[in-house]
Amino acid sequence: MSIARADKILRAGGLVVFPTETVYGLGADATNPLAVARVFEAKGRPRFNPLIAHVLDLEEAERQARLGPKARELAQRFWPGPLTIVAPRKPESTVAELACAGLATIALRAPSHPMARKLLAAFGKPIVAPSANRSGHVSATTAQHAAADLGDRIDLVLDGGPTPIGLESTIVALDEEGRATLLRAGAIARTDIEAVVGTLAAPETGAIAAPGMLQSHYAPRARLRLDVTSPRADEAYLAFGAPAPPGGLTLSATGNLVEAAANLYAHLRALDAAGVQTIAVAPIPRHGLGEAIRDRLARAAAPRGERPASEAEERA
Ligand code: TXA
Ligand code: MG
Repeated sequence: MSIARADKILRAGGLVVFPTETVYGLGADATNPLAVARVFEAKGRPRFNPLIAHVLDLEEAERQARLGPKARELAQRFWPGPLTIVAPRKPESTVAELACAGLATIALRAPSHPMARKLLAAFGKPIVAPSANRSGHVSATTAQHAAADLGDRIDLVLDGGPTPIGLESTIVALDEEGRATLLRAGAIARTDIEAVVGTLAAPETGAIAAPGMLQSHYAPRARLRLDVTSPRADEAYLAFGAPAPPGGLTLSATGNLVEAAANLYAHLRALDAAGVQTIAVAPIPRHGLGEAIRDRLARAAAPRGERPASEAEERA
């Protein structure tokens, strides 16, 4: 059975692509520094950009990190599910330091996808997994997209079909004082997190709390123009709340943000594959999942050539 094979590959220090409810992950044994190094290598990811350690449950998370009352409440409310908690790393954490890029904190997430859970249960240890795409590219929401990006750099792909959510997890950092900061908008809306921990702080500007956050990132090959209501003749239109015009695609004809999130990356890849030069994107509302969709689109649209070198290296 493929889970048994995947487990064997992980134990041998190999790389396994597996589905989660958000996007596909590029998995490795979190406790094996060599395996973790292979993940950075396969993704072309800079080593100062840390990885999320995936765990089966809160119990495993508490072995790795000091979780205060708010972190525990968040985990109890949203795990298993698309929430990543960044918290102070315990000295006795078994996760390789390389995975945390030398930070005093660790990112932890218990995914809900049945295949991910089966793999975690079989393996019995944390699995590091960034999104299964080449650094800076659009995340993979199908096994085919992951394989197209990573090719022979990986040992096995577990195919679970298209990922149900299609956008990465929401990342919340909790410091020693219990202050909660939103590091990445994601699959769980801000208001749902705030209902548990109160108002979320914004990351300090200038300080890189989540290195993948502010730069050009999640980018297709085509250029993007955002909040467009009338596309130009030479642009492919990514519609929302309306059917797609010829040559374009719609994120959701009915204006459904959940559907739009699920379609976002696959549509960007499809328009790239069609050879489109510029994608004009319809306005996406800011509420609910709209915050995360707008965040990804803004980073996909960020100027690439003009980026400072230090930022160019920080893409995840
Ligand atoms: O939905 C997801 O989160 C997917 C699936 C596979 O779980 N994973 C994912 O991983 O999106 P990745 O590596 O593409 O993005 C993780 C983000 C990066 O921006 C990284 O900088 C940040 O999490 N991160 C990881 N550890 C951190 C830490 N200790 N402090 C701050 N940010 C951290
Ligand atoms: Mg990523």
